[in-house]
Amino acid sequence: MTALKARVVEVVHETADAHSLVLEPAEGDRDRFTYRPGQFLTVRVPAEDGWAARCYSLCSSPHTDDRLKVTVKRVAGGLGSNWICDNVTAGDVLEVLRPAGTFSPASLDEDLLLVAGGSGITPVMSILKSCLAGGTGKVALLYANRDEKSVIFAAELRELTERHPDRLTVVHLLESVQGLPTPATLRSLAAPYTGRQAFVCGPEVFMDLVTGTFTDLGLRVHVERFFSLETDPFEEPEEPPEDTGDAGEVEVEMDGETRTVPWAKSERLLDALLRAGVDAPYSCREGNCSACACIRLEGEVTLDANTVLDEQDLADGLILACQARPVTDRLKITYDG
Ligand code: FES
Repeated sequence: MTALKARVVEVVHETADAHSLVLEPAEGDRDRFTYRPGQFLTVRVPAEDGWAARCYSLCSSPHTDDRLKVTVKRVAGGLGSNWICDNVTAGDVLEVLRPAGTFSPASLDEDLLLVAGGSGITPVMSILKSCLAGGTGKVALLYANRDEKSVIFAAELRELTERHPDRLTVVHLLESVQGLPTPATLRSLAAPYTGRQAFVCGPEVFMDLVTGTFTDLGLRVHVERFFSLETDPFEEPEEPPEDTGDAGEVEVEMDGETRTVPWAKSERLLDALLRAGVDAPYSCREGNCSACACIRLEGEVTLDANTVLDEQDLADGLILACQARPVTDRLKITYDG
């Protein structure tokens, strides 16, 4: 069974339309909830004709928080966000998939430039807290909001800035005060940090603006994009294909353990892993979210679809297990990189 259970121990009303859920994994599922800063959870939500799934970033840090926390902001007409904000209370049990995603810095000791628009602060907050507590790098945060009342985590950010005056710089951009951010504003704010990697999350238009401006400045930009899932990823994987005589194998490293499992050339890597009982992460199974990303150490694959990994990610060896088909007979991958 791939779904995990988490109990809601508290609902925090962050702003008028943003709720945080503090989650505690069910006893037997604890080990499968380990996560990296910036990752997200896929949550099963009721829909008119059955079930749907939505992804929410973790704003907690594996370096500072005992419990997991996701923050959900209402979206006009949004199925998942409104269901959560209207219905979920302490004591409820949610079905989720294990934490996943690639919006996570390779090192917490590097200096970073973080940029958030509105509720895009959620994964950025996880990265920020993790760097300050678990690393040595300096962090600059540019945080854009409509007005002061919309600023999520305002008090926590103030407190962190006071505690780490030499390592954390927070710049608030309020539409009600400075107007909407422009390329010129972003260029001048980013100028002192052009040697850093940038992690950006927020509304699509905002991320496009920041990405365009920062790329021109020569910054390496990582973005986190969310979308509605077309299928129900909580359904069990499909049955194995007939034996077509195209056997191969994949060696997989996960959670410090190594296993070798059979992988027919006619099937996708994620299906082969799940069938063999490997607890591989995934969410959309459509090549759109990067939840299933792992690092290719040996061998070659092709990807049926990919809207989420950029050329640098691919050059770094990242592949999407849900879309990968083998080219070579043997492959070695790791989820521990
Ligand atoms: S599960 Fe979403 S890209 Fe593979």
